Amino acid sequence: MQIARNTSGARIVLDGVTKTYHNQPIAAVENFSMTVEPGELIMFVGPSGCGKTTTMKMINRIIEPTSGSISIDGRDVLSLDPNELRRHIGYVIQQIGLFPHMTIAENVAVVPRLLGWSKAKTTERVEELLATVELEPSEFAGRYPKQLSGGQQQRVGVARALAADPPVMLMDEPFGATDPITREKLQAEFLRLQESLGKTIIFVTHDFDEAVRLGDRIAVLSNRSQIEQFDTPANILTSPANDYVASFIGHGAAIKRLVLIPVTEAKLGPVGQSAGGPITVSVDDSLRDALDSLVLTGLPALTVVDRSERPVGSISVDRISAVLGAEVPIAPVARRSAGTGQGA
Ligand SMILES: Nc1ncnc2c1ncn2[C@@H]1O[C@H](COP(=O)(O)OP(=O)(O)OP(=O)(O)O)[C@@H](O)[C@H]1O
Ligand SMILES: [Mg+2]
Repeated sequence: MQIARNTSGARIVLDGVTKTYHNQPIAAVENFSMTVEPGELIMFVGPSGCGKTTTMKMINRIIEPTSGSISIDGRDVLSLDPNELRRHIGYVIQQIGLFPHMTIAENVAVVPRLLGWSKAKTTERVEELLATVELEPSEFAGRYPKQLSGGQQQRVGVARALAADPPVMLMDEPFGATDPITREKLQAEFLRLQESLGKTIIFVTHDFDEAVRLGDRIAVLSNRSQIEQFDTPANILTSPANDYVASFIGHGAAIKRLVLIPVTEAKLGPVGQSAGGPITVSVDDSLRDALDSLVLTGLPALTVVDRSERPVGSISVDRISAVLGAEVPIAPVARRSAGTGQGA
């Protein structure tokens, strides 16, 4: 179920992009400029109606910009055939958007069919993708969308967008329709997937915590898609550019920052200090995962284990707060391990 094809992502450059809808006095997106590096996962966060979807849809020309330029790997997208362009950009639309009269397999096969792949190659790819998003092909391929839960439908949407292995993915609130627990699972799966895929991804969300968990960089947007801050999650949490960004982070910036810090940044207690129950914390987990597990179990301390499940120490709420009190360098590895939940 390897789907990594070493398709490294592409560089996307938007320069002075404006969109004014027909007969509208005010632009939906005004003078938007951004460079996204190959393989980056960029989160757009902002309130409803601020222009996130409009900005995104101009990249694959579902919406034509009124002015400005957009290029992918140096090629001006306005000079490309729009249909051709869309086949090379994976797109997960807001509200899932599966075709109700097609089976799951047929939904995932839409772009391969457009690209004229053979039946055998398409079938193989569909099965590979369904397995990747943890939907057993033998069970799900023949079903119709309405026979799946909301979270399962969203996974099909992600599989469909990945079908032709595009270097660029645009994802508009792909996990929006799921409950918090399913969402966290999908986020963790998605991060693991992206680790091997290395695509250039623009991902829209309303949920600031989701942005922190997933993003290499976050663009906090206000009306007309104005960029209030564009930086790493850690920098935004520690130094919000203005009151607007601060209000978006909301309360508990310190707690949110825990998701970015590996457990190993804490001074671990002795192994014997924890009760030694079945719930452990992995060295790959974040301090946020550790805190969640402590709260869930109600235990004063939990055992931290290495990748071979060997105990290496213990973690407690006090030891977590000690980290927040000190200035901690944020290790990049932490973000990737976010959301893996408790070890063991
Ligand atoms: N086809 C359209 N014609 C006129 N105005 C539009 C059209 N589509 C969107 N708009 C307006 O453009 C603005 C930006 O819309 P957009 O869909 O990009 O917002 P969004 O940030 O994606 O919002 P949400 O979070 O609710 O999905 C909104 O004020 C919206 O009403
Ligand atoms: Mg939208």
